[in-house]
Amino acid sequence: MRKTVLITGVSGGIGKELADRFVKGGHNIVLVARSESKIVELAQEYRKKYGIQATVIAKDVAAPGVPEEIFTELKEKGITVDYLVNNAGFGLFGTFMETDMELEVNMIDVNIKALTVMTKLFLPDMIKRGQGGVMNVASLVGFFPGPMMSVYYATKAYVLSFTEALANEVRGTGVTLTALCPGLTSTGFVDRSGMGASKMSKGAIMEAGQVAEEGYRGFLRGKTLIIPGARNRFIAFMPRLLPRKMVTRLIRSLQDRTEH
Ligand SMILES: NC(=O)c1ccc[n+]([C@@H]2O[C@H](COP(=O)([O-])OP(=O)(O)OC[C@H]3O[C@@H](n4cnc5c(N)ncnc54)[C@H](OP(=O)(O)O)[C@@H]3O)[C@@H](O)[C@H]2O)c1
Repeated sequence: MRKTVLITGVSGGIGKELADRFVKGGHNIVLVARSESKIVELAQEYRKKYGIQATVIAKDVAAPGVPEEIFTELKEKGITVDYLVNNAGFGLFGTFMETDMELEVNMIDVNIKALTVMTKLFLPDMIKRGQGGVMNVASLVGFFPGPMMSVYYATKAYVLSFTEALANEVRGTGVTLTALCPGLTSTGFVDRSGMGASKMSKGAIMEAGQVAEEGYRGFLRGKTLIIPGARNRFIAFMPRLLPRKMVTRLIRSLQDRTEH
């Protein structure tokens, strides 16, 4: 029997690339994002191309009660979610003094609250069935404090810590927890966050397809931590070698605005 994956933030970027791989691998899919027309079209394409079942839920995962609505809707439709991928997320560039509070609180709601509630809702049934998995899209930045994007980096540190802790708690149940930690990736993220103004955005960047490929393979193997790209794996190791203050200063120098 086909397994079903639910992916949030599937209308573009890493989420869409992950979706492509899951459906190609014969999985049914539940597509969640706000851009309804994009995911309706994607669902039609997947059904036609792969003969799989694709369910569209065009919702804002951070709106109050939405994760619960998604959970109930799928129960009522008799759709079992075998794999959950919490990918929806965004960042915001600028010093904490200049960034917009409402946007930042919304970021916490998307990157942390929705991801936590979705996991809380879907994980227990997976444990009962003795199989399944949750992949949370964290980031390479989850390993560092991030001046100029302080709230975003902190949300990803939460996702990383939360996921590794849960991976430990569910050991031996047949269910796995995975933190996917991409470095800078070519998606709509840089423009949406405003970090195009930073020096970092001019540095090495990976293709979303390559990130998704490593993520998909590692997730199906039950890996707890996936850092796509050898260079990124080395960077993640850096905080273990350097004093913490130095790491923060280094990130600051990379995150600073480019001079015009
Ligand atoms: N790109 C990078 O450099 C990078 C690096 C490390 C980690 N990440 C993480 O990777 C994940 C995917 O980002 P991306 O790079 O693929 O960026 P992206 O191209 O901007 O895609 C973000 C996706 O999240 C969805 N989304 C945002 N807010 C949402 C909400 N409230 N409810 C439902 N869906 C929402 C968007 O869809 P709608 O607008 O249609 O809702 C979109 O499909 C994020 O968690 C991001 O933090 C990105």
